[in-house]
Amino acid sequence: MAGYYSADCALHPRPKTEIIKDLLLKTSSLKDRKERVVVLGTGWGAVATMRNLDPFKYEVVCVSPRNYFVLTPLLSSVTVGTVEPRTIVESIRNICPHIKFVEAECTAVDHKKKTIQVTPTDAKFTSSSRAVMDSTRTRPGFEMAYDKLVVAVGAENNTFDTPGVREHAHFLKETGDARRIRAAVIDAFESACNPAQSDTERRRLLNFVIVGGGPTGLDFAAELAGLVHHDLHPAFPELKSQVRIQLVEAMENVLSMFDKKISEHTAQHFRKEQIDVLSNTFVKEVKEKEIIVQRKGSKTLQAVPCSLVVWATGIKCRTIVNKLREAIGLKVQNNFRGLVTDGFLEVKGAPGIFALGDCATIAPRRLTVDVEMMFAEADLDHDGGISLSEFRAWTQKRVDEYPQLQFLANTDELAEKFKKYGGRGWRGDPKLKLKAFKQVCEEADRTLRTLPATAQVASQQGKYLGQRMSCMPTAYEEASSLNYIKKRWLGFVGAANLERPFKYVHMGLMASVGGEAATDLTRIRSKKSIADLLNINAMTGEALEALLLWKSFYLSEQCSTRIKLLLLFDLVKASVFARDVSRY
Ligand SMILES: Cc1cc2nc3c(=O)[nH]c(=O)nc-3n(C[C@H](O)[C@H](O)[C@H](O)COP(=O)(O)OP(=O)(O)OC[C@H]3O[C@@H](n4cnc5c(N)ncnc54)[C@H](O)[C@@H]3O)c2cc1C
Ligand SMILES: NC(=O)c1ccc[n+]([C@@H]2O[C@H](COP(=O)([O-])OP(=O)(O)OC[C@H]3O[C@@H](n4cnc5c(N)ncnc54)[C@H](O)[C@@H]3O)[C@@H](O)[C@H]2O)c1
Repeated sequence: MAGYYSADCALHPRPKTEIIKDLLLKTSSLKDRKERVVVLGTGWGAVATMRNLDPFKYEVVCVSPRNYFVLTPLLSSVTVGTVEPRTIVESIRNICPHIKFVEAECTAVDHKKKTIQVTPTDAKFTSSSRAVMDSTRTRPGFEMAYDKLVVAVGAENNTFDTPGVREHAHFLKETGDARRIRAAVIDAFESACNPAQSDTERRRLLNFVIVGGGPTGLDFAAELAGLVHHDLHPAFPELKSQVRIQLVEAMENVLSMFDKKISEHTAQHFRKEQIDVLSNTFVKEVKEKEIIVQRKGSKTLQAVPCSLVVWATGIKCRTIVNKLREAIGLKVQNNFRGLVTDGFLEVKGAPGIFALGDCATIAPRRLTVDVEMMFAEADLDHDGGISLSEFRAWTQKRVDEYPQLQFLANTDELAEKFKKYGGRGWRGDPKLKLKAFKQVCEEADRTLRTLPATAQVASQQGKYLGQRMSCMPTAYEEASSLNYIKKRWLGFVGAANLERPFKYVHMGLMASVGGEAATDLTRIRSKKSIADLLNINAMTGEALEALLLWKSFYLSEQCSTRIKLLLLFDLVKASVFARDVSRY
């Protein structure tokens, strides 16, 4: 596949024209033109899809309010200046040279007419520069037709409608957010340094609050503690004793969705790093100079004076996604977390539309729905019972389609389950009868989990979708001699890809939990994570660089050489010289 990919990259023609000619696809037949795939977004899912889409086969049009890709796992390193903002972004025109790009927002999808409404980007979204604002005002909106649509618009920050969050708190989602946070931290230190400042105000200025003890809040708290202890303390020694970092979490533990051991390990590191964790504490309101919190079980509200508030309480669907769910019908689109797709990432109730990443969720395929059919399939000798070898063969055959069978992938586990449920057959062999087989299927279905909203999932889905779409037969392909030559030359036969549903391979989730420590958050599937393989699971005392390099290691497919080189340069710069604490 790698050979195919590099050869394909070399062959990628830049689009003959940047301008989309036939907006509503009315002037030519499918045989004379390439199918148009419109991709919404320039994030993890969208970029991975576009990089794997066959440019000979499709006219790929990308619509996104952001004309660059962001390496989100390194955003928190940008907030403290370990990594520069430019290092973690890459122009979409550089990484996907074979596409047409429109910097705009998709504001509506008509899935029956197969068109989208494109609206000029709100200038505030990407830039506050006057020149850009003036030019964006001249951009007209338009309607565009598609043959296939890929929705990869990600998700937005969830404020739970908490008053004051949008006005007074910072999110951590875009490079602009990271830059603003960096400036706000330095600003607070400079204001606290003012000789005429009162003690109360100085304490308020130096109290930094993070709301939400999930991976985002945790990553940022750890980075901030590192900056304060290593670079700001030497620069502002007189303020050292007054700095406080507080992480407010509504649940009993931080990272409450993960294993208890991980939460405890994290809490222990946070104590070392002098980060106060206020657990069982709910933020009710954010004001200009304080947050209002309520402890679990208490009726009284308490004000916590602070300067910087970073809001990291999770994500929710974007408006465009909710609009599309409603247009399709909420009976079919019944998951408020995102667009429900089948195992091939095609949106339920909207043929020709695919969705992936944070804006989508795959409908679980339960074994128990087709249990009689499964039983008949597994019972190869039709004797009304399933032997251990039949059970093993059936598990291996179906595991790709039903990932919940993975808990039986281990031979011992499989034999154990078989023993647990197996009755005695008429020849004295243990055999699974239908009732027992149903119980095994129920147990397997209980292990079903929705995939986490991570870059790993989005990029694997994008790669899968791009490759699968490249195998789909189109009318234009049959007529294209280039495609014929490519197929002959590369010997690429992708028919098998068409029948294979998406399968996620978990590589571990990592977050920094202290200035110099990192932890592997979880293993959602039974596959070993790279962190395990490298034996850096729950590493302590390792340098921050190890974490960053680990991140860049598993992200390497999506990282260009430019990003890798700049990242290396930033890391060397940050470890040889202190991080830059100037406010420019
Ligand atoms: C601070 C931080 C750290 C993270 N660290 C990790 C990590 O270490 N490991 C990990 O696996 N995951 C991590 N994640 C999660 C990861 O970033 C997301 O899961 C991932 O970005 C999801 O990819 P996506 O393609 O679905 O969406 P995104 O990457 O968010 O991309 C969405 C794209 O859609 C565009 N868009 C939005 N609205 C529209 C519209 N109306 N029309 C057209 N385009 C639109 C956006 O501009 C953007 O280009 C982190 C997230 C954050 C915020
Ligand atoms: N290293 C990584 O892999 C990584 C890093 C960042 C984000 N992500 C992914 O991005 C997604 C979003 O992550 P996240 O950390 O933003 O959110 P999250 O949903 O994982 O965690 C949010 C936390 O905020 C708490 N909370 C909610 N409302 C609150 C309130 N009013 N007051 C106090 N606490 C409150 C919740 O109890 C929860 O613990 C997740 O799917 C995550 O896996 C992954």
